[in-house]
Amino acid sequence: MSISIKNEKEIELMRTAGQLLAKVHYELGREIKEGMTTKDIDRLGEEIIRSFGCVPNFLNYNGYPASICVSVNNEVVHGIPTDKRYLQNGDIVSLDAGLIYKGYHSDAARTHGVGEISAKAQRLIDVTKQSFFEGIKFAKPGNHLVDIARGIQTYAEKAGFSVVRDLVGHGIGTSLHEDPEIPNFVRRRRGAKLQKGMTLAIEPMINEGTYDVWWLEDDWTVVTRDGKLAAHYENTIAITEDGCEILTMLPEEK
Ligand code: MF3
Ligand code: CO
Repeated sequence: MSISIKNEKEIELMRTAGQLLAKVHYELGREIKEGMTTKDIDRLGEEIIRSFGCVPNFLNYNGYPASICVSVNNEVVHGIPTDKRYLQNGDIVSLDAGLIYKGYHSDAARTHGVGEISAKAQRLIDVTKQSFFEGIKFAKPGNHLVDIARGIQTYAEKAGFSVVRDLVGHGIGTSLHEDPEIPNFVRRRRGAKLQKGMTLAIEPMINEGTYDVWWLEDDWTVVTRDGKLAAHYENTIAITEDGCEILTMLPEEK
């Protein structure tokens, strides 16, 4: 296994890829509403990505049939958009998107509520997002991947939620998935030492109930084993001299 180190020029390209993707998420977040289908979201997302002259990197990746992964309620990740699934008041919807700009990939996910959602659902969304920020407090040269994972897991579990074990984050660059694997939970092995120029997709998947998941028969959609809610939050980051830079977040976001 080898982790690619990007120079300043490559980071600049990844920064642009990241900022364009942040705009895609911003637009989708504004548009999402009751009565839309999950396919509507995919169509809109692909249209925005292409309007930037970029290519959706999920489309046809290992046969995945869409540009945006749309996962509703008990669906954790990789939901397949369909014109049969209408968003309803009270749903929570995770949108995972990525694009390629001048050969460089970006990858990010957000979870939104549709209309009025329960207090518990809102707390799950908030804790999932905050767990990302708790994790990246440890994203700096000299620390190890496990330090990020511990930050995420400790925070999410203290809030009473659980961290999905079967899926992980990943390195990213000229490919969507590069080394290393980045678990959101503590393993015995501490994982790679962080170094300036690494670019990583950190993506906590947090469940309301058990961390156990199932795959549906479409071989993509991951759902919670107990049918309870799940949320997903992801950004592509770059390790810097003394910390990290979030590439897929607009300056005015947060
Ligand atoms: N963020 C997801 C991941 O890192 C999205 C890729 S799924 C696929 O695995 F649709 F592209 F396959
Ligand atoms: Co990812």
